[in-house]
Amino acid sequence: MKAVRYEQYGPAAEVLRVEDIAKPAPGPGEVQVRMTLSGINPTDWKSRSGATPRPIDGFQIPHHDGTGIIDAVGEGVDDGRIGQRVWTWLAAASRPWGTAAQWTIVPSRQAVVLPDGVSDELGACLGVPAMTAHRCLVADGPVVGKNVLVAGGAGAVGHFAIELAKFFGARVATTVSGPEKAELARQAGADLVVNYRQPGAADELRAFAPTMDRIVEVALGANLALDLAVSGPSTYIVDYAAEPDDPVLPVRQCMGANLTLRFVLIYGIPAQAADQAVTDISAALAAGALTELPVTRFPLDQIMAAHEAVEAGILGKVLIEIP
Ligand SMILES: NC(=O)c1ccc[n+]([C@@H]2O[C@H](COP(=O)([O-])OP(=O)(O)OC[C@H]3O[C@@H](n4cnc5c(N)ncnc54)[C@H](OP(=O)(O)O)[C@@H]3O)[C@@H](O)[C@H]2O)c1
Repeated sequence: MKAVRYEQYGPAAEVLRVEDIAKPAPGPGEVQVRMTLSGINPTDWKSRSGATPRPIDGFQIPHHDGTGIIDAVGEGVDDGRIGQRVWTWLAAASRPWGTAAQWTIVPSRQAVVLPDGVSDELGACLGVPAMTAHRCLVADGPVVGKNVLVAGGAGAVGHFAIELAKFFGARVATTVSGPEKAELARQAGADLVVNYRQPGAADELRAFAPTMDRIVEVALGANLALDLAVSGPSTYIVDYAAEPDDPVLPVRQCMGANLTLRFVLIYGIPAQAADQAVTDISAALAAGALTELPVTRFPLDQIMAAHEAVEAGILGKVLIEIP
């Protein structure tokens, strides 16, 4: 099969190669998926570059996310799964078989049926961003009727955090850096969109909700003053991203607000929480509550340019077309 591989960490142009390699066979409890699209996330280039290295067992096919069709199953998996159109999550976590290849193999629960009418593109955007957004929202209880602030509502995680929070029945405010991203956040359903770079952002958020119950945070250090302006004893700030420099916590102010700070890393989400995320994301998909951000597609042989685009912070999602 054709597959993208790397054997050592480094820049995309130096370590990524498209090769013909032997197709893997599904083991017990696994399914084999013929990929259509492979979705790229920041974690994929950070793993490949060595910025946040993950162990390489001989070689690594990158990417966790994608859409495809199950065409074989391993021992113990119902062969009724063959022919299902699925989206994958964490395909390349502690496994060499990422989705940037004609076939991947994943544990059966990590290939989730895509409801009819949901596009392949949306399916390939879900894995890392939607699972992370879900965990950030519900790790500390349901958000129905709660006030939720999503920092960076036009980012991949931020986008699904808005859409899932609305699906769950929350009131949602979000922050963005400019008009193009504001429009995307409005389309996702945010009740209030605020430019965090403009003076008066804190006042606008306070007028919406004096105290936020959840803050889904992409830049804890940069946004802590804004977050503290809308924090109180019911506030959980849930941070899922590391900034270049770790923030210094103003402990007395955090104590004064009686807030709770949580961190989320998708690789360590408890299995039960991941399964609940899959269930809820599937329900939201079936209800038509999830949409994709603007998509830029690259053919498989332009994998280097695709990684560089994600690394440069392109707006929306980058998908690889699998031949
Ligand atoms: N912990 C986990 O499991 C996990 C899971 C997924 C992603 N991540 C990490 O989370 C980060 C975002 O991932 P992503 O896929 O959502 O990336 P993305 O699609 O590039 O979105 C990031 C968004 O954050 C916005 N942003 C940057 N600084 C901001 C600030 N101070 N306030 C508000 N928004 C800000 C950016 O827009 P502007 O710069 O224009 O504001 C951009 O829209 C990456 O570092 C990624 O590695 C971690």
